[in-house]
Amino acid sequence: MQPEKLIIFDTTLRDGEQCPGASLNIKEKLEIARQLVLLKVDVIEAGFPVASPGDFEAVKQIAQEIRGSKIAGLSRALEKDITATARALEKAESPRIHVFLSTSKIHREHMAQKAKEEIVVMGVNAIRFARKYCDDVEFSPMDATRTEKDFLAEVTKEVIAAGATTVNIPDTVGYTVPEEFAELIQYLKTNVANIDQAVISVHCHDDLGLAVSNSLAAVQAGARQVECTINGIGERAGNAAMEEVVMAVKTRKDFFHRVYTGIETKHIQTCSKLVSSLTGFFVQRNKAIVGKNAFAHESGIHQHGFLKRKDTFEIMNPKDIGGEESELVMGKHSGRSALMHKVQGLGYSLKQNELDELFAAFKTLADEKKEIFEDDLHTLIQKQKFSEEQLNIYKLSSLQCNFETGKVPQATVILVDRDESKHSSSANGDGPVDAIYNAIDKITGLHCKLLDYQVMSKTTGQDAQGEVTVRVQHGKKELLGKGTGVNTIEASGIAYLNAINKFLVKSESEPDKDGELLGP
Ligand code: KIV
Ligand code: ZN
Repeated sequence: MQPEKLIIFDTTLRDGEQCPGASLNIKEKLEIARQLVLLKVDVIEAGFPVASPGDFEAVKQIAQEIRGSKIAGLSRALEKDITATARALEKAESPRIHVFLSTSKIHREHMAQKAKEEIVVMGVNAIRFARKYCDDVEFSPMDATRTEKDFLAEVTKEVIAAGATTVNIPDTVGYTVPEEFAELIQYLKTNVANIDQAVISVHCHDDLGLAVSNSLAAVQAGARQVECTINGIGERAGNAAMEEVVMAVKTRKDFFHRVYTGIETKHIQTCSKLVSSLTGFFVQRNKAIVGKNAFAHESGIHQHGFLKRKDTFEIMNPKDIGGEESELVMGKHSGRSALMHKVQGLGYSLKQNELDELFAAFKTLADEKKEIFEDDLHTLIQKQKFSEEQLNIYKLSSLQCNFETGKVPQATVILVDRDESKHSSSANGDGPVDAIYNAIDKITGLHCKLLDYQVMSKTTGQDAQGEVTVRVQHGKKELLGKGTGVNTIEASGIAYLNAINKFLVKSESEPDKDGELLGP
């Protein structure tokens, strides 16, 4: 029997972005969507258009620009949501409306406050309404794994009859286990008369660490679409990690012989790094497939075997996911065309002016550190592509910081505002970074709460670039700030200022608007 295509539905930009603190701006979402196209993802869920004007605009721009992958937008089973989603998807080459509605007893009683019959009518009406705009409509009975099986089968049958082309079975709260989930998929295949008129999809959350296992068990039972995210980001403990699902199917072709995916796995690593850097959600070292240690062999016995024959201890080739030892790229004598070649090889497409700017930044960095690695290039490109220069209300002009054991750290900061006026301030702090942040606060008049502060070295060696990520809170708003550089103290100041600038820009454009709380 010929293997069937397993549809990879990526929801990094919707479920992934929905998790607290991972919010992305439109430019960042577009860049991730471009990387997902390189990966040859079948469906990109670009967002939840009715959730906010920003979400609407992001889905609209992605639908307008992206070609080669289907673009999906999420909707509650309400006409106003479906209309908004259809409008946002108007320019998509291949649109999909994804409608969700709670079906479990606990959700029916405490969230929807609807009886079973009402849920069926709502679902059917929503699908019929969505089909007026789009031939490709997906339905998700939310909290499916805690829904009575016979009721789940009834809803599934009715929405398919109403025109749903994909039925997605979400394990919304990450409650199921592989055998049970496979049985549920099997049950639907046996008890829903028209099930062969729709693709069965699964969407698993990782609350018990089983999202990938549950998804794969469902595939073995007949599911032909898996919803997943890059690095497994998503609500609470996250979603099934795309790279794990895809590499399991590829590496264990013998076991998953009924399916294949169309994913270009060599772009996995770049995409993982991009998502991690833009969301500020670091990938743990020992994470499968994309963790720093995923292909490192430490113990003597392992190294001994590995050196004799790689497959004694390695089941995948790191090259298959686009990863190898962070490669030495070039030094300060390298030319522009070598840089362009390398950048293309890393999966980025830059315009001429972007390449010129990158070349200048590359030369500056090459003066600061002798060896430039691939990861340095990733950092430079991301810094350049996503710098919000035009949004900057304050720029760091200079920073001086005194720190001596036993003495109170003190910092002096000079910021330049949009009118090119200089503002200077000094402050003490518990540590040098605290002193810098206090001095910045004195100038801006804002007092933000620092929720999280992390420094990651992007490459190896003492002269490695450090990436500082801060998460700050002001009122109800939580913002992410990033700064990179060989000097991590300075990068810490830049990261904080980056978050402050985002906050000030947001306050200018949407004063006191916290939005409707929607999230599925
Ligand atoms: O987890 C969930 O149930 C969802 C649905 C909207 C598919 O994200
Ligand atoms: Zn979800």
